[in-house]
Amino acid sequence: MSRDKIQIFDTTLRDGEQVPGCKLATKEKLIIAERLDLLGVNVIEAGFPISSPGDFTSVEEIAKLVKNATVCGLTRAVEKDIEVAAQALKYAKYPRIHTGIGTSASHIKHKFNSTPEKIIERAVKATAYAKSFVEDVEFYAEDAGRTDNEYLARVLEAVIKAGATVLNIPDTTGYCLPDEYGAKMKYLRENVKGIENVILSCHCHNDLGLATANSIAGVQNGARQIECTINGIGERAGNTSLEEVVMVLKQHPYLNLDTTINTQLLYDTSQMVSEKMGMPVQPNKAIVGANAFAHSSGIHQDGVIKNRETYEIIDPADVGVTESAIVLTARSGRAALAYRSKKIGYELTKDQLDIAYTNFLSIADRQKEVQDQDIHKIMETVNIQA
Ligand code: KIV
Ligand code: ZN
Repeated sequence: MSRDKIQIFDTTLRDGEQVPGCKLATKEKLIIAERLDLLGVNVIEAGFPISSPGDFTSVEEIAKLVKNATVCGLTRAVEKDIEVAAQALKYAKYPRIHTGIGTSASHIKHKFNSTPEKIIERAVKATAYAKSFVEDVEFYAEDAGRTDNEYLARVLEAVIKAGATVLNIPDTTGYCLPDEYGAKMKYLRENVKGIENVILSCHCHNDLGLATANSIAGVQNGARQIECTINGIGERAGNTSLEEVVMVLKQHPYLNLDTTINTQLLYDTSQMVSEKMGMPVQPNKAIVGANAFAHSSGIHQDGVIKNRETYEIIDPADVGVTESAIVLTARSGRAALAYRSKKIGYELTKDQLDIAYTNFLSIADRQKEVQDQDIHKIMETVNIQA
């Protein structure tokens, strides 16, 4: 049985680029957009066209360049925003306008000084207006994570009638727990008329470190699109990380969900985005961090050397990492020293390994890591030839 496809909506160039210090020039955005298209994402959110002339140009140029993915522009529920987004998306092969408004009690009161009924009117008007420019209209109910489910269902039913094709349920503040977010999706699937004709989308922020878990709970409960960014960059603690959700679905086939992502490009894409945005990837970042496939304790190293699967649930080659790393530290054992020594040309007998290991430990206790040049020195000291 074929696995259901989850659409990957990449917002690195919109929500990701909102991060202070991550601002990109159009030329850099084009390079990233081309890479995202090659990676196999289904939607590229290219920017927020009304926000600045530079962002308008970026969205317009990306729309001209991208061959496969839908290109999307963000708007508020404001007519001028929608007109400008439509203009920027004019050359896209598959254009999408992403419009919406805050729906939580806090947004309605403090941000809009409005009422629930007036917010529904504005949502409907914006959706219908966007629909007059493009067929594909995604509606976002900002702060849906903290929006009362019954009211949210009414908003969504109204925007479906007005022509929305995709419904985005953002956990804007990263507040929800996975079972809560999953239950919200289930409630909407069961209580919104017309929902079977549209795609439900997860858009989760990582304020409590739950963005990936929440997105997975969302698709387990019927959502069919995940909004995410490379390396999980985004406002505050970031957005759902693309590489994480893609690999969760790949590594758990029983979920029966899949994506169109070429996972072997994940590591290079992560490096490219990190370099262009000047945002280092934390070493312990899942999937693409420098330590994601590095083993440094003796017990783990021994296991991995005997069989990779003892301590690795992903084949590094599947995400474009050449091989797992055995890092030599004072916590490493003989197996790791023998393994690394063999890689650089030394076949050791048991006795030689014992002598070399004593020397190794005295260096390892003084340094953070023992490098290949240190091993050469050890072998010279104990008179072992390569
Ligand atoms: O987090 C959010 O609510 C958003 C919307 C603008 C889609 O980014
Ligand atoms: Zn967001």
